[in-house]
Amino acid sequence: MRAGAGAAALGMAGSVTYLTPRLLSATPRAAAPGDRVRFASIGAGVRGCEIMRAALTCPNVEVVAVCDLYDGRLVAAQETAGKQLSTTKDYRTILDRKDIDAVLAAVPDHWHRKIVDDACSAGKDAYCEKPMSHTVEDGVAMVEAMQKHKRIVQVGSQARSSIVYAKAREIYASGYLGQVTAIEAWIDRNDASGAWVYPIPPDANEKTVDWERFLGSAPKRPFDLKRFFRWRCFKDYGEGLPGDLFVHLLTGIFTITGINQPPIRACSMGGLFRWKDERDVADVAWTLFEYPDFRVSLRCNQNNESPSVTRVFGTEGTLEIKNDILTATPQNTSPRPEGYSIYGWPEKLRKEYLAEWQKEHPAPAPGKFALSAEAEVFKAPDNYDYTQDHFLNFFESVRTRKPSVEDAVFGNHTAIACHMANYSLDHKTMAAWDSASNTIKG
Ligand SMILES: NC(=O)c1ccc[n+]([C@@H]2O[C@H](COP(=O)([O-])OP(=O)(O)OC[C@H]3O[C@@H](n4cnc5c(N)ncnc54)[C@H](O)[C@@H]3O)[C@@H](O)[C@H]2O)c1
Repeated sequence: MRAGAGAAALGMAGSVTYLTPRLLSATPRAAAPGDRVRFASIGAGVRGCEIMRAALTCPNVEVVAVCDLYDGRLVAAQETAGKQLSTTKDYRTILDRKDIDAVLAAVPDHWHRKIVDDACSAGKDAYCEKPMSHTVEDGVAMVEAMQKHKRIVQVGSQARSSIVYAKAREIYASGYLGQVTAIEAWIDRNDASGAWVYPIPPDANEKTVDWERFLGSAPKRPFDLKRFFRWRCFKDYGEGLPGDLFVHLLTGIFTITGINQPPIRACSMGGLFRWKDERDVADVAWTLFEYPDFRVSLRCNQNNESPSVTRVFGTEGTLEIKNDILTATPQNTSPRPEGYSIYGWPEKLRKEYLAEWQKEHPAPAPGKFALSAEAEVFKAPDNYDYTQDHFLNFFESVRTRKPSVEDAVFGNHTAIACHMANYSLDHKTMAAWDSASNTIKG
């Protein structure tokens, strides 16, 4: 659907094309009973409940069990998906069940590897939240687990399935942008929630929270509700701004450009300026990444809010995704006489140059004047949730065994970029990827 007036309403030049979500365009089909996918959620916190809701909008799927380490989350999960959900604090009881096809892992990042490994060995497919890995080593092992057990592993960085990014990919692949040499993107926030200072539920205590299990492979520490509920603030469980947010930007950039590899080098600057609680991660992170054909600059700032932006700069045009509105703007590449350096020439030479140039570039005849093309705008419907499309893709892979759109190899490559950004931040040095040893070198 195209709507010329829509652009003005959105305060933008050019026409607006409304994109159609996959969920709406998917062909309804009468699924055979064997087609029904039964899944369980491991982790039922903020994201766990959110993705359970998104997954349940897909046809012919059913959630049957949930695992979490805090009683209140198990209640929230049943409120989300129904009282019939069986609940546990030990996810192995879920993996032992023969009637479950897939698990969704929405747990803190230090648990991703173990749960995906265990799920794959138990013959389950896995949707693992982003960033896929907590360390480079974890990511390599997760790719091996997916390949060895021939399971579907899909990473939960939903821009991969977004119709907005798919359109951007189409424009990029068409050559509209010319040669792309630079990309920039950022996510900025300016409130306590954006800085991960979440309130702690008043009924959380040593009886309602399984602290020892939460720690898992992380260093042993005394019971600490801040670490349990605000785990993103601590390197033991998360990867700070790169793991939490760069990964979304990178998934978008990989999707638009078609790259799928670790960066060659990464160089970060950042610091902790404002949210000086007990956290050990930065509240500003800025990284330059080297990819073969272009350079990428990413930023996250928890001290100022502005709309999230991804911009792709080409010799012929610019793509911008701002709050999920995609704009393609052509560069003005019509021939122009040199208008700068000739003003250091003697007047006679300058005039001769300009006269010669005019001769070689005659003005178009009246009525033939070509207006430069206008910007084009593409927009998803207001209520569009691309996590739903991401789940359509996941369940399609589970049913057909077609590789996932965001498998562990892809998830590993975006995560490695985040680990390199952190390496550079922590060591105050350039991080280089060594593909021979699958490690980061300083
Ligand atoms: N794709 C996205 O847009 C998006 C958005 C938010 C979070 N996430 C990701 O989702 C994951 C979860 O984040 P969240 O915001 O929901 O965190 P959260 O703290 O709200 O929830 C995590 C839950 O995991 C549970 N848990 C921890 N270890 C467990 C274990 N071993 N077994 C079972 N349950 C366990 C905790 O009890 C907690 O309730 C993270 O990896 C995060 O990066 C992704």
